Amino acid sequence: MFNPYIKDFPALKQTVNSKRLIYLDNAATTQKPQTVIDALTAYYSQDNANPHRGAYALSVRATELYEAARETVREFIGAGSTREIVFTKSATESLNLLAYSYGMSTIQEGDEIVVSIAEHHSNLVPWQQVAAAKKAKLVYLYLDENGMIPKREIETKISQNAKIVSVTHASNVLGGMSPMESIVKKAHEVGAVVIADLTQSVAHRKLDVVKLDLDFAVFSGHKMYAPMGVGVLYGKEKYLEQMTPFLYGGDMIEAVFEQSATFAPLPQKFEAGTQNVEAAVGLSAAIQYIQTIGFDEIQRIEKPLIQYALQRLSENSYLTLVGNPDPEDRTGVISFNVKEVHPHDVASILDADGICVRSGHHCAHPLMSYLGLTATARISLCFYNTEEDIDRLAESLKHVRRWLGLGFE
Ligand code: ALA
Repeated sequence: MFNPYIKDFPALKQTVNSKRLIYLDNAATTQKPQTVIDALTAYYSQDNANPHRGAYALSVRATELYEAARETVREFIGAGSTREIVFTKSATESLNLLAYSYGMSTIQEGDEIVVSIAEHHSNLVPWQQVAAAKKAKLVYLYLDENGMIPKREIETKISQNAKIVSVTHASNVLGGMSPMESIVKKAHEVGAVVIADLTQSVAHRKLDVVKLDLDFAVFSGHKMYAPMGVGVLYGKEKYLEQMTPFLYGGDMIEAVFEQSATFAPLPQKFEAGTQNVEAAVGLSAAIQYIQTIGFDEIQRIEKPLIQYALQRLSENSYLTLVGNPDPEDRTGVISFNVKEVHPHDVASILDADGICVRSGHHCAHPLMSYLGLTATARISLCFYNTEEDIDRLAESLKHVRRWLGLGFE
């Protein structure tokens, strides 16, 4: 079926190994539309200067573009104020900022930090550090047989001792969506703050941090059609105000004396050093691109495509799907294994057919152990993928075992 959006992405027009490129690794990073590439070129061709530092026209323009990008992000996620939008270099840095600036100062001995077993290492290892330093306990929400967080886990694991609940909104391995409303409700009942890792959901669904009543949220730009090197931390102003800076240096200070310093107001307090202005400009262009298409249209394409992919993959009797077989409540992240074949071999054989998939542990060691696996192959879909892409994948997967001299269909 004709997909009108492929033409917007120059990287999708190439061939790899003499085959049309099929890009199915959007959970790792998305391709970039021409509008984003043009925004970067325009920035470096006309407006590049260090923002917040120069009295001259170019620096003023760079400052205006950078701050306009902040406003675009604010409006996109429904935050109340640009003071609540901090630019970081990645979702990982946003989570480390929270662990060090919020976790280390609020968590005390005996407190509990709640995560799910489906967390990416970036939303797990920083909390391990906080828990170890403060003699706190890391508590896990485990998954049901479909890879979803059951209500009973939320009810029983988020206890009066919980002070931070930091959970992914959508698993980067299983694609399952977390029941965020129930998690927020329970966490707030016991007085814990909620951090949502929106990295794998923000490009696929309309999200509103105020409606969800999230205390903090993080995501990265490069998984939503923007450049690498920019991430976002959203935080309720009352929490960001009370937090100490994470990085110290230029542009985050108010006044510096020989023995001490005072710090800039939000959000500058958390943005030390020269920021990645071009990536913020690119993120703004990516958000405008997403908004031009609209989330209704994105869902109209992605939902049936997920269903189609699940159905086509389940037709292969040598293939085991890992995660929720139900196309509802999930993103286009689909993990699977081919019988007796290591996922890295699956990925290499697919590459020979011009198909890009990820293989490995997906930065989720505890989840892999919980599932009794060491690795999976993983596709991750977005709105520029098509049924033809899935057909090419399904066809290529049929040959994986034959290539390795194993039995095949
Ligand atoms: N976190 C990214 C992924 O899941 C890199 O592939």
